Parts: sequence; C-alpha cells; structure tokens
Amino acid sequence: MFHNRQITQDIYYVGVNDRQKVKFENLVPLYNGVSYNAYLVLDEKTALIDTVDIHFGEILVDKIQSQLQGRDLDYLIINHMEPDHSGSIRLLRKYFPNLVIVGNERALDMVEGFYGIGGATLKIQDEQILSLGRHQLQFFLTPMVHWPETMMTYDMKEKILFSGDAFGCFGSLDGGVIDTELELDRYWEEMYRYYANIIGKYGSPVQKAIKKLAPVPFEIICSTHGPVWKAYRQKAVDIYDRLSRFEAEEGVVIVYGSMYGTTELMAETVAQGLSEAGIKPVIVHNVSNQDLSVILSDIYKYRGCIMGSPTYNNGLFPELEDLIKKIESRGVKNRIFGCFGSYSWSGAAVKNLSEFAHHMSWKMVEQTVEEKQGLKKDNYELCLKLGHQVASLLIDTQQKNN
Ligand SMILES: Cc1cc2nc3c(=O)[nH]c(=O)nc-3n(C[C@H](O)[C@H](O)[C@H](O)COP(=O)(O)O)c2cc1C
Ligand SMILES: [Fe+2]
Ligand SMILES: [Fe+2]
Repeated sequence: MFHNRQITQDIYYVGVNDRQKVKFENLVPLYNGVSYNAYLVLDEKTALIDTVDIHFGEILVDKIQSQLQGRDLDYLIINHMEPDHSGSIRLLRKYFPNLVIVGNERALDMVEGFYGIGGATLKIQDEQILSLGRHQLQFFLTPMVHWPETMMTYDMKEKILFSGDAFGCFGSLDGGVIDTELELDRYWEEMYRYYANIIGKYGSPVQKAIKKLAPVPFEIICSTHGPVWKAYRQKAVDIYDRLSRFEAEEGVVIVYGSMYGTTELMAETVAQGLSEAGIKPVIVHNVSNQDLSVILSDIYKYRGCIMGSPTYNNGLFPELEDLIKKIESRGVKNRIFGCFGSYSWSGAAVKNLSEFAHHMSWKMVEQTVEEKQGLKKDNYELCLKLGHQVASLLIDTQQKNN
C-alpha cells in the first residue's frame, strides 16, 4: 500500500517517524520527534540499509514489501547496532528467512548478543565492496561514531553515503524526506542538540571518520536520523566537523541555578556586562527551567560559558552539578569561562566552579564574584566587571585566532 519516497533511481526511503517517544534513549527530550531512517536498494539483488525501532517494525516490513512486490529481500546492511536501528532485525529475519545479514565483525557479534539469531551472515572488512548488480556498495569502518561497530556504506553508482548516525539530527520528517523539501531551521538546531547529547564525547572518532571519507566523492548523505542531505550536505558535514573539533561560534551562555533570587540577579547583571561590552548573542539559562540537553547544546555552540551557583549543602546547586558532569564526561574543550555565586554562611560554589574550569583546562577570567546573602552594590559592580572581562578575553582571543 505504501508509495515510498524515491531518493534516486533504485533507492527508496522506507524509514519511519517516531512522534510517540518522550525521551530519546530515555534521557533526551524529543520536542520535534525523531525519524529512524532505513533505505531500500532494488537491483539484481535487493538490500535494506539499516532498520528501525521495533515499535515500528511491522510498518517497516509493509513498506519494504510494497516496494519489493513479491521479490525476496537478499541483504540487510547493518551500519549501526544501537536498537533504534537494529530493533527490527529479528522481525525481518522472520519475514525474509533467506536474508543475509551484512556487517563487520563487531556488528555481527552484537546481532548474536542482542537478538540471538542464526541464519546467513556476511562478514565484511574495511573498504570491501559488495555488488548488487548495477550498484556496488563499499563499506567504511568508522568505529566509535558513537559505538564500536559503527560503519558507513557508500553506493558507488549513485554517490550516496549511508552514514549511520553521523550527520543525523532529531526532528521527524514532516511530509518530505530530502533537505530541499523541508523547512530546515529546526533541523539545524536539532543537529546541535543531537550531536552534543548523543555523539558529543566522540569528537576524535568523528574527525577520523571525516578524514577517512574525504576522498569519497559522495553527493548525497543518507543518515539514520533527520533529512537526506543533498543540497545542504556540505553544511551538515561542516557542522559535524566543527563540533567534533570543539570549534564554537562567538557568543556566551550563562547558566545559573538560584533558589531565592540572589544568584539570579547576579546572572542578569553579568549578562548586562557582556552586552555592554558588545557581546552578542548572550544566552541566559536558568538550569532549573531549561532541559540540560538544550543547555549542553548551547555550550557546544558558543565559545563563552559563565556559570553561577548558590552554595548548596557545601557544594553546587544540584542541577548545575549534573550539567557539569555531562560537560566533564564529554571533554568539551577550549571554552572561555567565568563564574559567580552566593552563599549565606560559608561559600563553596565559586571554589567548585573554578576547580571545574581548571580541570577542563578552560581559560578562566580573573574576576569572580561571591555574594553573602542579598546582592549589594560592590558585588553588583563586580558582576558587571565579570561580564566585561569575559567579553574582553573573548574578543582578544578571537583576534588571535583569526
Ligand atoms: C537547601 C539549602 C542548602 C544550603 N546550603 C548552604 C551551604 O552549605 N553553605 C552556605 O553558605 N549557604 C547555604 N545555603 C544558603 C544559600 O547558599 C544562600 O542563601 C544563597 O544566597 C542562595 O542563593 P539564591 O538566592 O540564588 O538561591 C543553603 C540554602 C538552602 C536552601
Ligand atoms: Fe546510535
Ligand atoms: Fe541512532
């Protein structure tokens, strides 16, 4: 019954949109849904590239059967074994018992480990080519983008790179599939959030993958989440390239926690200081009201980061502590940092935030501000000064970088 969208001759989009899942990996909120992309190649042999989350397995099978019109499915190419893609493998094996599962050694181990299914498999090596007839598929192992078995598949005839999660983003595909059919603004935003939260720790494997793929003359990117990149493929690669080098745009993110308003007033004042010194954009996040996935995304995006916290049980405001753990575990590099806080009897927040910056090897400005109880004039002025100092360091290092 399905009219599947055609990407090029012989290649059809058979993926699905998930508008039901609340949090991706049960961690990251899906404000705009997510797509699980799978692609069917019809040649002398037929091949499916990746599958979808098991909740959509029957729809995937229907879509495939609509296109096959009675033919058998010969190959399943596995680029990535995370269950949002591998979830339907067992179901496919039931519908297509002759299916040959194609993957690298680590992927095939995982097929066994996750799904315990037997049957025909084809273990491929790095850069090996599999012929479907007119289409030759070449496999490029790209480990740790973001799992150890990840690889990409290149269709040499159509110059399509099936890239797995790389170059992917959150956001369901509303009506269209190819980038030129869609309003792209929200996908670019969702690419930052996807990268920062899902791939972010693996900057150096992403860099290796981009370098490895450099000689491959792909003209279309079919990733496993988000639009098919055709006209905007270079922009998608550039964003991943910059993010994986921790290269950021000019601008400052202020993140603060506050129970009763002192630290919040300090955040407002620091923001004013930045703006007075010419910084734009200045983005202020109340850590209690904004999801950490959004804050993390902005920290990947912008070069300046300022944090404010009240002292809470001799430590940091708990939500800020969580954010810091996420930043530490991803090893975010090369940020300009400043911090402030407030306390009522014995301050610890500024000390803890300074230690965090030191541990991250981030450049921290000299000025810090820590107020006792309500914000008073002297420290108000120092908050403005903190903003000015961060601005100067940003402007200074920007000139040096250029
Ligand atoms: C649950 C709780 C724990 C706190 N723990 C400490 C503490 O360990 N040391 C301290 O000096 N102040 C502590 N405070 C006081 C706050 O740090 C102080 O009042 C601060 O100015 C609050 O900032 P805010 O107005 O931005 O919430 C605590 C306050 C609360 C409500
Ligand atoms: Fe994944
Ligand atoms: Fe994925």
